Amino acid sequence: MRKKIVAGNWKMNTTPAEGVELAKGVAEGKKEVCECVNFIVCPPFTHLSEVVKVTRGTGIAVGAQDCATEAKGAYTGEVAASMIASLGVEYVILGHSERRQYYGETSETLNKKMAQAYANNLTPIYCVGESLEERKAGKHFDVCKAQIEEVVFNLTPEQYSKLVIAYEPVWAIGTGETATAEQAQEIHAYIREVLASKFGEAAAETPILYGGSCKPSNAAEIFAKEDVDGGLIGGAALKAEDFLAIGKGF
Ligand code: 13P
Repeated sequence: MRKKIVAGNWKMNTTPAEGVELAKGVAEGKKEVCECVNFIVCPPFTHLSEVVKVTRGTGIAVGAQDCATEAKGAYTGEVAASMIASLGVEYVILGHSERRQYYGETSETLNKKMAQAYANNLTPIYCVGESLEERKAGKHFDVCKAQIEEVVFNLTPEQYSKLVIAYEPVWAIGTGETATAEQAQEIHAYIREVLASKFGEAAAETPILYGGSCKPSNAAEIFAKEDVDGGLIGGAALKAEDFLAIGKGF
């Protein structure tokens, strides 16, 4: 049985105080959602310490949205995986399309970040997905395959066994446009096939999350698909009620 995961990527939103309230809201409402759902909240770096404190013992895990390529040193503005992990954070989102697009993250950068994450016991949520042009040109399968081959294929089987994948079509992020449940299933199944070509049966255990305008009204239909194991939620994760309602989609 694969893990069911609903992860909230808060991106660059909320003050630390608002973030604490949001996390508390999720913790309070969680008892109304199936215990089978693993909730993860991923606030900005500045909120991590407090959010870890208020979610401790609630069953909600905390993730960061990025980490540095290096372990420590003269890298102004960067935050090391060891610093994140030392707060009690368990996950880290890596390779989000906004990081690839706006901050020039490449497979080379991501290989280093993945290594840092694993060296510090952080579980990566590795994001893949195609742009609108790539989808229109029918290249979405190849794009996702390359993003996996160039990074995930470098993991050891032990590292791979902890990995979470998120498929996020760039054209569906923050646009209100969602992939249909069929589109999601088609590419999730393909991604699993690519993973299986390298890691064999272990691919059947890898959670693959869908992300892109996922909300309470469409989550259940998408999550019902065989190869969709949950969601990576942006906008709808900023309201505890909506985030929890998405969890009820299972
Ligand atoms: P939205 O849910 O706001 O479309 O964002 C998805 C996303 O990028 C999560 O990482």
